[in-house]
Amino acid sequence: MKIRKAVIPAAGLGTRVLPATKVMPKEMLTIADKPAIQYIVEEAAKSGIEDILIILSRGKSIVEDHFDRSPELEAQLIKGGDAKKAYLDEVLKVSDLANITFIRQQEMKGLGHAVLQAKSFVGNEPFAVLYGDDVIIGDDPCCGQLIRAYDEYGLGCVGIKEVTPEQILKYSSMKTAPLKDNLYMIDDMIEKPAPDQILSLYSILGRCVLPPEIFDILQSLPPGAGGEIQLTDAMKVLARRDGIVGVDFTGKRYDMGNKLGILQANVEVGLNHPEYGEEFRKYLKEIACTL
Ligand code: UTP
Repeated sequence: MKIRKAVIPAAGLGTRVLPATKVMPKEMLTIADKPAIQYIVEEAAKSGIEDILIILSRGKSIVEDHFDRSPELEAQLIKGGDAKKAYLDEVLKVSDLANITFIRQQEMKGLGHAVLQAKSFVGNEPFAVLYGDDVIIGDDPCCGQLIRAYDEYGLGCVGIKEVTPEQILKYSSMKTAPLKDNLYMIDDMIEKPAPDQILSLYSILGRCVLPPEIFDILQSLPPGAGGEIQLTDAMKVLARRDGIVGVDFTGKRYDMGNKLGILQANVEVGLNHPEYGEEFRKYLKEIACTL
């Protein structure tokens, strides 16, 4: 079945990015000249996704405003004529990327609980999940790479990358066996493993494609690591039962959930910016000489 729907969980409090996130959602922090969540919606749209549900929480309505039309601003830019035409095009493009709807997660009970809010939006179809604080930049959109693996194997798929032994303790760890090329079969996984529970250094980073059965599994799950309903615990049930395909995706992932990740994203995306990338590169070289 064609994958047309995507869910972007973006309800988390972003405590690791305080004080920036006291009022401003981390998903709205900018990378170069766009808020992080716009890169994620663009990736979904480029991957063939038509309908997107963004899961928000109290105080995050600014995300809805960003993807809405902005008649006053548009009228002003139209008045500005040719000089403002490029800005007008950018503004109109944002509200036309996909059919986007929003729902609130009333209590932050974890990523699995956030995804559960999408049950009626998704219905009985496979769907993609793009974590709202993981921006992945590359020529071949990451979500599309997972969709292709789903089309080939008909199993749940997760985006994976090898991380450091220190990082794996904070992420998830996958038991992998090579399938072909950059694809692996996963038959077990664990969220936030203790050092003696590490299955491999492969961790899920920010993207999955899941069958609708995941909702029944999520509904019956007890809280896991950190007292939260963990999406990884639900995917583990699928992995043990049917197997899950791990896609060691191409593309660079930036963790917008921590301060260093945000700085790295801005430097690297800034360096490739068509308008000021060259000037920024010169500036960085000058600065680097003084370090
Ligand atoms: P994180 O655990 O990284 O987000 O969840 P957080 O809770 O904002 O992080 P802290 O406060 O800095 O530790 C990964 C993704 O899942 C979403 C987050 O918004 C993020 O995109 N999420 C997490 C929810 O939508 N709901 C939740 O209850 C938890």
